[in-house]
Amino acid sequence: MNLKEKIKSFRHSDHFHIRLIYHLLKPLWVIRRFITDTYYRSVVITRLQHRMKYYQRSSFTMPDRYPLVFAACAQYLQAIAHPRLLSFGCATGEEAATLGKYMPDAEITGTDVNEWCIKACKNKYSDSRFVFLLRDSDVYNKCSGFDAIFCMAVFQHTANRLNKNNETARGLTFSQFEEEINILDTKLNPGGLLVIDNCDFSFEDTSVARQYKPLEFINNRISRARPLFDPNNRKIAETQNNYRVFVKEGK
Ligand SMILES: C[S@@+](CC[C@H](N)C(=O)[O-])C[C@H]1O[C@@H](n2cnc3c(N)ncnc32)[C@H](O)[C@@H]1O
Repeated sequence: MNLKEKIKSFRHSDHFHIRLIYHLLKPLWVIRRFITDTYYRSVVITRLQHRMKYYQRSSFTMPDRYPLVFAACAQYLQAIAHPRLLSFGCATGEEAATLGKYMPDAEITGTDVNEWCIKACKNKYSDSRFVFLLRDSDVYNKCSGFDAIFCMAVFQHTANRLNKNNETARGLTFSQFEEEINILDTKLNPGGLLVIDNCDFSFEDTSVARQYKPLEFINNRISRARPLFDPNNRKIAETQNNYRVFVKEGK
């Protein structure tokens, strides 16, 4: 056990003085991390700036995280010469870069609420096909006309998923989810794709969902071991079996 793990284990000690050591050291550890770790600092600052509007706070991502989804979307969009794609909650840009591989002629916008993420994206992916925008910027607020919008692992909150008492969704609520979906709907072209995965709610419960239908491909519907909450924020299942890719009607 390294020193950090050892000190963490003090928290559950039977001895008062050992627990006290943990509670005295923890604030020092948080301050040290805030000073030395730029990513951690950005999460704390974004949390203070955006509070409830900061949904998933971890920026974990990886290249080609959803290969079946990306392949199905690329096939659907192949009739468009330069499809316009949005990665909403782009983290450090690997999703945008992956989309660029599946659709080499696409114009790709990534947006994130965390400024550190947007800086990291710009440093890593400077190709002119990519644009990275802060979620709160005027340019992002005005942009529209996308052929596909990817909202992967962003409409979720750790507290909803992992808190012992998670019968009700509190970290991210259905009304916040639906409000953001309504905005994204205005940015998507008729016939375009709305793609949602790793989410605390079901897109089909939103009011705009009646204008959408699932894209037909094997594995569009996926089973995930994670709680599902209804429009009243009540947990209704411990596993999900939701569709991930929807086509907006009206083309
Ligand atoms: C787990 S990452 C998802 C990365 C990528 N989409 C994927 O699935 O691999 C979630 C990202 O969503 C961002 N995020 C959280 N709330 C947001 C909001 N209101 N608007 C835009 N991005 C947000 C976080 O900063 C974080 O970088």
